[in-house]
Amino acid sequence: MNCKGIIFDLDGVICSTDKYHYLAWKQMADSIGVYFDENINNRLRGVSRMESLEIILEKYNGNLSQEEKQELAEKKNEIYRELLKQMTTKDLTKEVKETLDKLRGSGKKLAIGSSSKNAKFILRQIGLGDYFDAVSDGTNITKSKPAPEVFIKAAEYLALNSEECLVVEDAKAGIIAAHDGGFKSAGIGEAAVSEFVTYPLETFSDLLKI
Ligand code: BG6
Ligand code: MG
Repeated sequence: MNCKGIIFDLDGVICSTDKYHYLAWKQMADSIGVYFDENINNRLRGVSRMESLEIILEKYNGNLSQEEKQELAEKKNEIYRELLKQMTTKDLTKEVKETLDKLRGSGKKLAIGSSSKNAKFILRQIGLGDYFDAVSDGTNITKSKPAPEVFIKAAEYLALNSEECLVVEDAKAGIIAAHDGGFKSAGIGEAAVSEFVTYPLETFSDLLKI
């Protein structure tokens, strides 16, 4: 791999917080009687909290004020944060940690590029609070994926250009963001079958084969 920097999505790439997003949204959706399933959840990958809520509410019959929507999003976040509190260093797999260490050992700069406002909290929970050279997340962007802003900021923080960085993603929205920002990308899960992905991966450690 001839890139100088690697920008990792967090939820669903570094750790399995995607399953907690699902559980928290499901609880919120059930509380207002709106249908929600894994397929709808997949459309929320990489998308901001409020935009995720709007996608879920496509199946809602009724009108909600902006304030009520804000409350629902906050409710989901409270449930989500309770689930995150249970996370420990055990939620970082050996495969992910060893792969990160090997990439770092080969001289790559490593960054996070996540739409989440909870990213730094999650990183601390899994023992990676001080690990990355830069963290670009939901707190420093105005538009979430598929806009490329979060990755462009991450590259800036690493003092690198887009062409010098590889983005690693599990969301199709993230692969589009990488493509539109001029980055090469590696995709796992549904991102591996995106038409814009540069390197489809079967598993995280396949990064070492690129
Ligand atoms: C992304 C997730 O990483 O973060 C999305 O893939 C989520 O599903 C988004 O909506 C925002 O996360 P948070 O933690 O700020 O609600
Ligand atoms: Mg993700």
